[in-house]
Formats: sequence, structure tokens, C-alpha cells
Amino acid sequence: MVKFGIMGAGKIAHKFAQAVIGINEYLYAVGSRDLLRANAFQERYELQKAYGSYEELLADPQVDCIYIATPMSEHYNNMLACLEAGKHILCEKSFTVNKKEAEHILTIAKEKGLFVMEAMWTRFLPTIQEVQKLVNEGVIGDIISIEAYITMFLDFPMTSRIYSKSLGGGALLDLSVYPIHLANLFLGVPDSFETEVKFASTGVDTEEKITYFYPHSTATLYASVIHEDKREATIYGTKGYVHIPDFWSTESATVYNNHHKVIRQIDHKHIVNGFEYEIFETVRCIKKKWNESPVLSHATTQEIMRQMDAIRKTWGLVYPQD
Ligand SMILES: NC(=O)c1ccc[n+]([C@@H]2O[C@H](COP(=O)([O-])OP(=O)(O)OC[C@H]3O[C@@H](n4cnc5c(N)ncnc54)[C@H](OP(=O)(O)O)[C@@H]3O)[C@@H](O)[C@H]2O)c1
Repeated sequence: MVKFGIMGAGKIAHKFAQAVIGINEYLYAVGSRDLLRANAFQERYELQKAYGSYEELLADPQVDCIYIATPMSEHYNNMLACLEAGKHILCEKSFTVNKKEAEHILTIAKEKGLFVMEAMWTRFLPTIQEVQKLVNEGVIGDIISIEAYITMFLDFPMTSRIYSKSLGGGALLDLSVYPIHLANLFLGVPDSFETEVKFASTGVDTEEKITYFYPHSTATLYASVIHEDKREATIYGTKGYVHIPDFWSTESATVYNNHHKVIRQIDHKHIVNGFEYEIFETVRCIKKKWNESPVLSHATTQEIMRQMDAIRKTWGLVYPQD
């Protein structure tokens, strides 16, 4: 079995732990900068090992694959350390702060023959995959436009990672990365884009509308960490449309014809919490000794980072890592 170790015992690490355990995969260890936090995490999930540093976690030869659950600013150095220690990697989104970092990591992973994947769980959800299949079969005709909204009122202090430039904060890397992946999944790489954006006093973006332009279609993508309204995506085609509530974590979607009549209802309840599907894929690829997933390739992750670099450039939003 693939033995997982978690790097960073913050919020999302719990969701990952619950998913690994829920599907009877092997969650072996946790590493935290704080031994007490690691111990508490170990006790809660009955893990074999808890380490008070990431170095100790990586020095354990039993660990096969590290799930990186640290802020964006740390992903590059965390992944470098994992690769040096010969560990496979599933790294939380956004994969890195910029494309330069992503390229370097993926080059080294290839050289070392280690598996690395961005933990963009949305791409592995059965509902999203079924929508993709139906769209490819032409059920809604040619795509005319996509509208996607991910708005979450994150009532965090200004010192939190979300608002911190040095921790790779901002709505783009935290939330817009989801609709950007969605647009790329259904429409590919855009020809050009326009944006509207708001900034926090700390200098990071808090709310944005990104419009992607394609030869015969557009994608309008909204994200906000300061207010909450719509949380959904709609893919409009020449013959009908698909509505996907909470598209980044969805368990359902509804397909309509052009007369607003339901022609297909898609329902896939999560086995645990939705993270299990990216975990299945990670285990599958590692067992097959693949360096990357065919579902979410290295080229795609790099392309997404390129698009986010280009968007930030128009905003003048520069991170210390740039
Ligand atoms: N897939 C999803 O649905 C989803 C949802 C939320 C977040 N995320 C992603 O998951 C990652 C972590 O997010 P989170 O919400 O779990 O963050 P969080 O609660 O702040 O946890 C991050 C953890 O990273 C570790 N860390 C290492 N270096 C750090 C530093 N310099 N400053 C602060 N913490 C540091 C800390 O763990 P230790 O002290 O234990 O080492 C901390 O608890 C981000 O990449 C985020 O985009 C994904």
C-alpha cells in the first residue's frame, strides 16, 4: 500500500486525513512544525508516527507520498525537500506561487522519476467527469459561454495566510484557481483575458472577475474571499446548458435543454468528503510508477500557473517569490 505522510497539520490536513482513512488507504504519519500539534493529530487519526518537524517526516523511509498542506509560499521549498528525500507528492492548490517555481519542481520530479500532482480535487470528482463526458458527446451542443462563481466570506484576521503577501495569499491563488481550472477543462487555453479586481490593505486581491476570451466563446469567472453570494457554475451550449452547484466540490449537476427542461440529472454522493477521488488517482499513478497523472498533467498545472502569473502581472501584484 502507498503510505501517506501529511506535511502541515492545519485546517485542510484534517479533511485529507478523513478521506484517506475513509477509503481504507494508509495514512501513516504527520509532520508539523509543532510537535504538540503533530501529537494531537496523530492521536485523533490513530497514525503510526508524529513528527515535530518536516525534516523528520521526510527522513522516515516508510513514507511513500507526502500530502503538502501548507500555505502557497511554502509549496516550492516543501516539494524540493520531498523530492530530495525521494518522496512522491500530492501538493495542495495553488501548486506554487508562480510558473517558474512549478517548472523547476516538475523538471526535478521527472529527473528523479517521482510522482507529483497538484491537489485540484475538482478535476477528479465523478460529477465533473460525467459532465465532461456529456459535453464531449455534444449533449449541450457547442459551448457558448461558462459562468463560474466561487465566493466564500473568509472571516480571517489580516494576519492570516489569505491576506498575507509573504504567504502567497489572495483570492486568485486561493479561489480563482478553481474556475480557472474549470474554464481550461471545458474550453482550453484562452486567447486573451480581461479582469476587474479589488485589493485588501495588505496588497493581495480579495475579489475579482476574470473574463476569458476564446474564438467562439467566453468564460466569466468570479471569486471573492470578502463576500458570499453565488457558488455555482453554468456551462451554456447551443443546444442546452449544465448547472453545477458548488462546482469545485460538487456531488450533482443538472443538464437542461434550450427550453429549460431537465434532460439529465447527475448525482454522485461523495464516499467521504470528495478528496477521495484525487487520492484514488494518486495511489493509482504511484502503483503504475507514473510520474504524472493523465487526468491532471504537469503541462496543465504549469499552464494554469502561467495564466495566473499573467493575470497578476496586469494587477501589479508581485510576491516575494517572483
Ligand atoms: N482543496 C481544498 O478544498 C482546500 C481548502 C482550503 C485550503 N486548501 C489549500 O491547503 C493549503 C493549506 O491551507 P489551510 O487552509 O489548511 O491553511 P492553514 O489552516 O493555515 O494550515 C496551513 C499549515 O501549514 C503549516 N505551515 C508551514 N509553514 C507555515 C507558515 N510559514 N505559516 C503558516 N503555516 C505554515 C502549518 O502547519 P504546522 O504548523 O502544523 O506545520 C499550518 O497549520 C493551501 O495551499 C490552501 O490553498 C485547499
